[in-house]
Amino acid sequence: MLGRTLGGRYYVTKHLGSGGFGQTFLAVDQQLPGQPFCVVKQLQPQSTNTFILQTAKRLFDAEAEVLYRLGNRHEQIPQLFAHFEENQEFYLVQEFIEGNDLSKEILPGSPWSETQVIDLLKDILGVLSFVHQENVIHRDIKPENLIRHKHTRKIVLIDFGAVKETVAQTTCTQGSSSRTIVIGTPGYMPGEQAAGKPKRSSDIYAVGMIGIQALTGLAPQQLPEDPTTGETLWHNWAQASPEFTAVLDRMVRCHFKERYQSAQEALQSLENLRQSILPQTVPLSPNQLVSTVQPPSRQYPLKRSQVGWHFRFRFFIATCLGFTAGYVIVFILFIIFYSIDSRLRLGVLDTYKDENVLQIVSAFTIGTVLGFCVGVAEWLVLKKWISEIAWWIPASVFSSTLTNATVVLGANAVWHQAIFGAISGTARWSVIREKTPRAIWLIPWFAMSAAVDRLDLSPVDIETQAGTIWPVISSFTWLVVSGSMYLGIYTFIMSWILRRQ
Ligand SMILES: Nc1ncnc2c1ncn2[C@@H]1O[C@H](COP(=O)(O)OP(=O)(O)O)[C@@H](O)[C@H]1O
Ligand SMILES: [Mg+2]
Repeated sequence: MLGRTLGGRYYVTKHLGSGGFGQTFLAVDQQLPGQPFCVVKQLQPQSTNTFILQTAKRLFDAEAEVLYRLGNRHEQIPQLFAHFEENQEFYLVQEFIEGNDLSKEILPGSPWSETQVIDLLKDILGVLSFVHQENVIHRDIKPENLIRHKHTRKIVLIDFGAVKETVAQTTCTQGSSSRTIVIGTPGYMPGEQAAGKPKRSSDIYAVGMIGIQALTGLAPQQLPEDPTTGETLWHNWAQASPEFTAVLDRMVRCHFKERYQSAQEALQSLENLRQSILPQTVPLSPNQLVSTVQPPSRQYPLKRSQVGWHFRFRFFIATCLGFTAGYVIVFILFIIFYSIDSRLRLGVLDTYKDENVLQIVSAFTIGTVLGFCVGVAEWLVLKKWISEIAWWIPASVFSSTLTNATVVLGANAVWHQAIFGAISGTARWSVIREKTPRAIWLIPWFAMSAAVDRLDLSPVDIETQAGTIWPVISSFTWLVVSGSMYLGIYTFIMSWILRRQ
């Protein structure tokens, strides 16, 4: 299949997966400018049984219809680009969603924090309530069929191959229920769906199971059932507030009547929950505060296992690269500036020589560029886990500009620098303080490191040895050694701040 051009325009480049009824491929659309990627699903049933073949074709057409109807109207559902038959095989072409599916994020033995799970469920239920409003039941919600979009970071619901129209359902079940093919995935599929009668609340069950899987780090099949009631037992393996536990319980009740009846209703419960979990957003009288508000639970964004050596390595390298890129850009900017100035004989440099303006402008530029590059580099590492982390970039720009520019304005004593360092730390602390109580340590760390920097511990005195290469080499070596020591300690502090014990 690889290397073939389908429908005269879709050039297949990669195999993405094979399901019960077909194969899925990544392809490029040769007829569009820039040859964008798309996903081609091929219907290829593994059976010769005519009933199965008919079912497969029906499911395939249903997927095309649903994508055609819903994909254009919701950003969390892929669009349908084409649907055609070629050499008696059926194809469906849809929008390629860049990103990883949730099975890469919900890892065995790595439970998520309650806030993370709530955010995830709200995201999924948002798109699901749209799907349900359109009278469609997805029937195969599971981590593999949810892709986190690389850029928007939203969850995109894929694989509508198992969809069922709720309108059609009433007529179908009467006539052909004995021949219904059960569609769904064990573990995420509730009893009524396994019995061939899926409902909207069957999808809610699947979403609840995903929530429990994220919260416990255990796959649905690993969780035991209560032998008398048949309900899934999971509380012992999860850390969650009683309110959220109650919502999840209601999503995964054995009997569909006891579940939320619509995704909208489940979503609403989660929204309300947010308000009760974050009491500071609700004005309460002091008495109420004492009786109803529990101490905020400490939520660390990352598990110890996530903030291991790979995290430290990436954070360290990112920060180093950020600094290096910043210096390189500044260097290039100055070369451009100096050459323009001398080429055009503008004399800007001479005019401002005595007034320190040039120094201040350069200190501002260096500070801003460095802060920006370092901020972006660190954000790239952290954004996977912390949703509000984009503020990290302005925080970094602000603190770096402040520290650099004020030095040339005369605020260059050790204690001045300690104060600016503390402001830098505060800027970063304010970005992640809700995620981890330990973020407060960023403030003394930045204060101390800025002060130490001012002490000028460099053993190299360039001026006394002017004219030889050694001072250059040794001061560069010193920069690399002290810089990596500094960044190394900083990396350890960051990983310690972020991880749960
Ligand atoms: N629109 C899409 N964008 C990106 N990847 C996709 C898309 N559709 C499917 N895939 C990838 O292909 C795999 C199989 O496709 P899927 O539609 O889930 O079919 P099935 O599970 O029935 O084989 C998915 O798990 C996913 O990794
Ligand atoms: Mg799938």
